[in-house]
Amino acid sequence: MVAEPGSALGVLELDIRPMDTGDLAAVAQLERESYEFPWSEGIFRDSLRVGYHCSVLTLDPIIAGYSVLAVGAGEAHILNVCVRREFRARGLGGRLLDHLIDQARDAGAGMLFLETRPSNLSAIRLYQSKSFVQIGIRRGYYQAAGGREDAIVMRRPLF
Ligand SMILES: CC(C)(COP(=O)(O)OP(=O)(O)OC[C@H]1O[C@@H](n2cnc3c(N)ncnc32)[C@H](O)[C@@H]1OP(=O)(O)O)[C@@H](O)C(=O)NCCC(=O)NCCS
Repeated sequence: MVAEPGSALGVLELDIRPMDTGDLAAVAQLERESYEFPWSEGIFRDSLRVGYHCSVLTLDPIIAGYSVLAVGAGEAHILNVCVRREFRARGLGGRLLDHLIDQARDAGAGMLFLETRPSNLSAIRLYQSKSFVQIGIRRGYYQAAGGREDAIVMRRPLF
């Protein structure tokens, strides 16, 4: 556990731990509040089942964020990272990113990848601040209100 005395989060205790099935309803609720096209609870359940690295960030006792990471063939891929709206812009996304980088490195990956919407400027700034660089565009990758939206592909070396 890491205490955060004096930070914008006051004395709430911050912890990042593995997600388990008991977290799924709360995580799926947070997901619905955060995305226009949210993952279903079943997608999170499947992510646990197939062995993705799924984590929750808690501010005791609240689930304030979560992440999902896939690792294989020497590469890691961030599939989801999210912070509860009322706790954003306090550094928690950065804490989750640091955790994801450590998880990927510990799992033996040499490169970490992610996709993000070009419209998601706060996410892009956060990734850049953690040394991710854009390496390409996937055309029409995301569902969007008016049809499809491209994805920016970013990567970060781990060694
Ligand atoms: C993207 C997301 C995870 C970022 O989480 P976050 O907790 O807000 O991230 P951070 O607080 O670490 O950084 C975000 C901003 O807050 C600022 N910040 C960090 N700590 C701060 C503090 N103590 N006080 C004020 N601002 C702070 C950062 O500088 C950054 O500013 P910028 O966007 O102007 O560059 C969050 O916005 C989110 O969950 N969005 C919805 C889901 C989503 O889009 N996920 C990404 C999919 S690719």
